[in-house]
Amino acid sequence: MTGPVPELEERATACARRLCAADRVLLASHIDADGLTSAAIAASALERAEIPFEAVFEKQLDGEAIAGIAAREYATVLFTDFGSGQLDVIGRHERAGEFTPIIADHHQPADEETEFHLNPLLFGINGASELSGAGASYVLARALADVAETTPGGDSELAADGGTGAETTDRHPRADNRDLAALAVVGAVGDMQASSGELHGANEAIVDDAVEAGVLETGTDLALYGKQTRPLPKLLEYATDVYVPGISNDANGALRFLDGLDLELKEDGEWRRWAELTAEEKQRLASALVQRAVSRGVPASKIDDLVGTSYVLDAEPVGSELRDASEFSTLLNATARYDRADVGLGVCLGDREDALERARTLLRTHRRNLSEGIDLVTSEGVTHEEHVQWFHAGDRIRETIVGIVAGMAVGSEGISREKPIVAFANKNEDEIKVSARANHGLVRRGLDLSAVLGEASREVGGDGGGHDVAAGATVPNGEEETFLERVDEIVGEQLGSER
Ligand code: C5P
Ligand code: C5P
Ligand code: ZN
Repeated sequence: MTGPVPELEERATACARRLCAADRVLLASHIDADGLTSAAIAASALERAEIPFEAVFEKQLDGEAIAGIAAREYATVLFTDFGSGQLDVIGRHERAGEFTPIIADHHQPADEETEFHLNPLLFGINGASELSGAGASYVLARALADVAETTPGGDSELAADGGTGAETTDRHPRADNRDLAALAVVGAVGDMQASSGELHGANEAIVDDAVEAGVLETGTDLALYGKQTRPLPKLLEYATDVYVPGISNDANGALRFLDGLDLELKEDGEWRRWAELTAEEKQRLASALVQRAVSRGVPASKIDDLVGTSYVLDAEPVGSELRDASEFSTLLNATARYDRADVGLGVCLGDREDALERARTLLRTHRRNLSEGIDLVTSEGVTHEEHVQWFHAGDRIRETIVGIVAGMAVGSEGISREKPIVAFANKNEDEIKVSARANHGLVRRGLDLSAVLGEASREVGGDGGGHDVAAGATVPNGEEETFLERVDEIVGEQLGSER
């Protein structure tokens, strides 16, 4: 198998055997890019193992959602990209004999255990940066291929000693499920696990699998978002993670910079895109950009961030969102976060016609919503408490994307990188959605947003969780202020009072 952690794989094998013993499975997953890719990986693996299943998606796995899942009367439920944080509630249904849960997740677990629980955090792997939900699903999919191979037809006679792959007669060419690794890379990138330009830890082993399976190409490339689809001037103008004065956020500046390069900028009257440039042209543009950044005083550490590892799904056509792991993940967020998980799942499962066309339409709306959301936050600004900064979007930003907006707004004027950002948006009449984002530097200093949001939300009658670096919660309408005071206090304690 792939990874460096045998215990994780042993657990995956146990989960896979349990799945093979099921007559049918309900697959439940989360509505973001990682959740969709998790579901697509699990769905493909179940189908290949000939295990009947049905897929459902939940915005949030709260008590009500879990009760709804139980009501569908499946004896086996596979949760992907969530479930760990809700093990207390899931455990109650399990003990009541309603279903057996199998969980492939990477969120901070609730204080409870279950037998078929596959989560990197249980095995010393960082769930926020080294393995995503899709990564956990992929580890499960690999195990399922092994187990299914030794138990033909999904027979419930389980192999006594894990599938070692000894008898490889009439193996399907994709029978090891390694081709699914590309989707796991999209999930990890979508969950922002490629910090400092590349994927790390267990994710790296998945990248290797994907490359070996011929479904992914990696390389050192410009680390800007939109290399496949953005016209060159927009690629530069919108790239603000590394702020290059005179280019970033400066449409005319970006154009003047490109004009000075002696590059063919248009083809048949249309702006060219990065992915269409020749290697030599890419080199020329990248060097000029770095030179410009240096001459404008951008610090060396930031300049390094202009270059990173690219993850290219090379079976997809040049210029398609699906070719770039990061753009693919945005396309997926544009579906499931708008109640169209079916569309995103269709794209992940290979539909390049109706589903892809529909997804592209949804993407336009998503882009507009993100851009309007960021404008709102940057124009109205955030309120600074001692240890955190926050804004309340009310009904003006959709609760399913307010976390993305918060993360993207960080670094804009007045929005500090030194403090976590907490965002509120209305969920319904009675409840408020909270999203919080930080960075790995703050996590190294002791910050754990999952603990902060969990504790503070429960104190006001809500619930929350997630990862150290990014977390979410639901709180009762009207409790925002009390909640925020507690958040500020706990963050202060975690970071130590002197700053
Ligand atoms: O539910 P899930 O684990 O899939 O979501 C993780 C969330 O955390 C994503 O919205 C992702 O963008 C965010 N994140 C972040 N910064 C990181 C790591 C994750 O904003 N460094
Ligand atoms: O919803 P948002 O994008 O802010 O979520 C950030 C992270 O927190 C995600 O990984 C999400 O799954 C998690 N989360 C959670 N419990 C909640 C809300 C969000 O574990 N109630
Ligand atoms: Zn995830």
